[in-house]
Amino acid sequence: MEFKIGKAGKSKIILVKKDEKFDNDLYSYLVEKELFKGKLSEVYFDLSRQGESTLLLGLGEEEKLSYNSLRKAFNKAAIELRKFKVESVDLLVPKFEKLDYIKTITAISEGFLQSNYSFEKYLTEKKLKPTIKEVYYEVVGLEDEIVLQAIREAEILVDSINVTRDLVNERAINMYPEVLAQAAKDKLEGLGVKVDVLGEEKIKELKMEAFLAVAEGSDKEAKFIIMEYTGDPANKEKIALVGKGLTYDSGGYSLKPSTSMDTMFTDMAGGATVIGAIKAIASSNLKANVVGIIAACENLVSGRAYKPGDIVGSMAGKTIEVLNTDAEGRLTLADALWYAATVVKADKIVDLATLTGACVVALGSTTTGAITNNDELMNDLLAASEFAGEPVWQLPSFDDYKEFIKSDFADIKNIGDKGAGAITAGLFLEAFVDDTPWVHLDIAGTAYDTKASGYLPKGASGVHVKTLYYLIKGE
Ligand code: BES
Ligand code: ZN
Ligand code: ZN
Repeated sequence: MEFKIGKAGKSKIILVKKDEKFDNDLYSYLVEKELFKGKLSEVYFDLSRQGESTLLLGLGEEEKLSYNSLRKAFNKAAIELRKFKVESVDLLVPKFEKLDYIKTITAISEGFLQSNYSFEKYLTEKKLKPTIKEVYYEVVGLEDEIVLQAIREAEILVDSINVTRDLVNERAINMYPEVLAQAAKDKLEGLGVKVDVLGEEKIKELKMEAFLAVAEGSDKEAKFIIMEYTGDPANKEKIALVGKGLTYDSGGYSLKPSTSMDTMFTDMAGGATVIGAIKAIASSNLKANVVGIIAACENLVSGRAYKPGDIVGSMAGKTIEVLNTDAEGRLTLADALWYAATVVKADKIVDLATLTGACVVALGSTTTGAITNNDELMNDLLAASEFAGEPVWQLPSFDDYKEFIKSDFADIKNIGDKGAGAITAGLFLEAFVDDTPWVHLDIAGTAYDTKASGYLPKGASGVHVKTLYYLIKGE
């Protein structure tokens, strides 16, 4: 799909607000017959074999329009155009009073581009057949260069989101720590990102005993992946993005039932999101310094695997009582976060993790749960997620909850007493950030869904690539 400035005259999109009155034969007919009302994302395609075809696209009430509703509406339009095998479409890009014109162009372009992803690697016969080759924009009062830049941003974002989706959708038989590390190199080194991969010998030297305990049950070597993007060398400030990297989570000896296990190839979604976000940030040459970190391993059962009841050490020097080997993500993250705080010396940390089923119970598959030790960073992140259209909801982290993870025999234990599972998991992580301003995002519900929703496809969603990009861009 290529975006161009101008007009091709083969087919066009006409935008209609709710109950809008304007002079157009087709529209008047449809309104009279009550076939079209202009509701948000409503589409009607009128095929013309000789002349110009028309797609009517409803936008609802203008006061309620947001960048995300534009993404969704134009995504619907693109899917409808594909149904009719349209190859070229014209659009007079609308200006809305409450929305920035350049950002409107990016949101619309994203909506179009989001229509072309489907994970079909293992389908012998592909179902998705993209048809739209050209989208022509008519834009009033902006220089071409600015328009093309706005489009380019959408292209970079969707490419990066799709990298995340492909990594998450890949099954564990082909996606293990070494493969994830290689993917980080393949996707990022060409963009000037320095990627270092540490094997188990180095990980041992660093005393990442909690991470290694989780990795112990697998024959696949654990990898500690560090990705460094220096887009602002004159500035010392760095933000660390830490992603959970369980390339498979069977639960270990606290084994999961098979119905909960069959999607656990997605347990590295946090890590994949970090790779996608750094790709977007580096492709856009954002003026910032970002370090991505993934502690990648598998949580399996074997004669060497760690066991419920074990007490393990950690790079931070704290001992951890493991009362459930299925609460493994927090153990790997404990060492990754400590590394981010004390070796990278990050000024801020955001971690992303498919951490708890409790978060899925609380917020479902549309909203990510968040925990923080710093309101300012939290507010910046919430603003970025709102703009990205990737909902985040902050969970409380009152001190009383910290009692839940106190252990009698070690410094901390890896599960809470009862209830508030998403919160106690977050507070466990907080014990390893060394007071660095930090936000934790629990994406257990949002990273992967068996059904499509809005412009998100079936399977991996790629959510929070945009949130992280906009957080770091500062919008
Ligand atoms: N990877 C899972 C969490 C998860 C659940 C991700 C559903 C995606 C969808 C995590 O490692 C886990 O198993 N957490 C346990 C923690 C519990 C033992 C305290 C859970 O949520 O059941
Ligand atoms: Zn688990
Ligand atoms: Zn897990």
